[in-house]
Amino acid sequence: MLLVFLSIALTSNTEPRGDLQTLSASAKFQNAQDITLHPLPENASISIQGFEAVTIGSPKILEALKEIRSWSEWDESKQKLTQLLWKINMKNHFCLIAYIAPQGRIMRNALKGEAAIDVHIDQNIEGEPLKSMLKGYATLLFHRISPIKLMNLWIPLQNQNISPLMLLDIRSLKPKHRVHRHVGGFGSDGFSLIYDENQVWHANPYLEFGKAYMFETCRTPHAGCNVPGQLAIEEAALFASKGMFENAKLALEKLDEERMSPILERALTMLKKSIENEEKPQLEICNRVSLEMRIVGVCIPKPGYVCSLIYRACELFVRSICRKREKRND
Ligand SMILES: [Fe+2]
Repeated sequence: MLLVFLSIALTSNTEPRGDLQTLSASAKFQNAQDITLHPLPENASISIQGFEAVTIGSPKILEALKEIRSWSEWDESKQKLTQLLWKINMKNHFCLIAYIAPQGRIMRNALKGEAAIDVHIDQNIEGEPLKSMLKGYATLLFHRISPIKLMNLWIPLQNQNISPLMLLDIRSLKPKHRVHRHVGGFGSDGFSLIYDENQVWHANPYLEFGKAYMFETCRTPHAGCNVPGQLAIEEAALFASKGMFENAKLALEKLDEERMSPILERALTMLKKSIENEEKPQLEICNRVSLEMRIVGVCIPKPGYVCSLIYRACELFVRSICRKREKRND
């Protein structure tokens, strides 16, 4: 009976919270596409929505991340982070880390054009290199309800003032939205995405340092999106950082402040000041620098999460009985 309840809860649809502000953005699907981003639901679960919030409480890990923040690119020889990562505190799961792939450790600096702007799923569970590495058993090992998961750990090293990470609620993904793609550099088979208006996209550009997201490498579509006004802000920031303040001023003149995304407001104020005073801009206010890692972990549901699933399943069960009775009475 418990399994039936859990399966009802896992397939039930939770509407995005309507009380929080949504953001407009555009993203590169097969074509560029305007989309609406909903806030990331706080209680999202990697088993249901395909992504889950992570809190990095360990002072040693935070220290290692601060050190990485000052690097211009990932340096394996200097990094102290991976040795410290043996468990991760997810919102609804305890995650024990079995393996961190060396080739998946990537720092992305959006101002350097490193944000992954094509909407994609990193890995096809039936494709290479997983197929060869696991002799075709990847689909069994990383099955949707398996506690063993192949995941991306995505850590913002500063606020995401441009190109925030967007994640799709995988319940709104249909197989027909996926188009095979092969990434030569990694020799990996993944998917590009076709936009569909029923897809439910989420982002939290205000994610603070010390928080992160975990999502399924083989299932969760994601990308860095483009918010209105971002291109002008990026251009102005790049010019100002090179001391070309006149060009930076011209770049800002192209900005339509009426239509600009609210997440760019701090960057705009800072850039105007920087140009006026002919000072180098504070790039941490007008950039996004993030770190990602590919992890194999065992996700053990927290007791509170299991109780909430059972409660939701019971609620749905009772509601469906009431609905049936109402129909009969009609
Ligand atoms: Fe990716």
